[in-house]
Amino acid sequence: MEDPTPPILRPRSFVTRGRKTEAQARAIDELLPVYGVEFTGDRLDLDAVFGRSAPRVVEIGFGDGENLLTLAERHPDRDFLGIEVHGAGIGRVLGESSLRGLENVRLVRGDAVEVLRTGFAPGSLDEVLIYFPDPWPKNKHHRRRIVQSDVAEYVARALGPQGVLRLATDWEPYAEQMLVVLDAEPGLVNAAGAERFVPRPDDRPVTKFERRGEGLGHAIFDLEYRPASHP
Ligand SMILES: C[S@@+](CC[C@H](N)C(=O)[O-])C[C@H]1O[C@@H](n2cnc3c(N)ncnc32)[C@H](O)[C@@H]1O
Repeated sequence: MEDPTPPILRPRSFVTRGRKTEAQARAIDELLPVYGVEFTGDRLDLDAVFGRSAPRVVEIGFGDGENLLTLAERHPDRDFLGIEVHGAGIGRVLGESSLRGLENVRLVRGDAVEVLRTGFAPGSLDEVLIYFPDPWPKNKHHRRRIVQSDVAEYVARALGPQGVLRLATDWEPYAEQMLVVLDAEPGLVNAAGAERFVPRPDDRPVTKFERRGEGLGHAIFDLEYRPASHP
């Protein structure tokens, strides 16, 4: 398949961490074949993956899946593709999806930067969510942050004309960087106006990382971008 954009050399935005519980490991063995989507670098056929054609939401780095599971349960008419590298989180979401009988959840275990780069047809997504991405606070690690110009470009290309990119973080310097990077992407328009954050959406589920940030006294920053082609 044609490679739409050559990869930009960047260090990984994640470290492999944490131990899986026995139940999570079992969920991966038993349920990844059911809910998992193998990503080989080729474009994903989302109609085939979900067995239907419905609005498509992609969550990058869903962690324990609190947001993904809540939204999937709340919106059975929408399809949710989660991308994560963290085995324990994947195991948890697999187990919960099965327990809750969710038919609109699928997971890719892999690097979301790569999936965004080649995995989605232009205009094929309705929402992309990046909530509380790893802040990589040290200067020498800023290049590891997932929100950079390459990801901004891939998301802009993948979103349909009515699409939306939503982000949240409790790390103010990263929030400022997100504004700079995303405001500069010609394919995206800041829904709040340049250099501005949006109010916290009432319907955004609270996750562990948001609670932790609030516990540390951090402010929470929400961002929303629409494709430049948005009518
Ligand atoms: C700080 S946690 C936030 C989790 C979740 N969004 C929340 O709000 O609770 C960031 C997550 O992003 C995942 N992550 C980081 N870089 C990633 C990448 N390139 N591809 C997939 N997942 C990634 C990490 O494994 C981690 O689980």
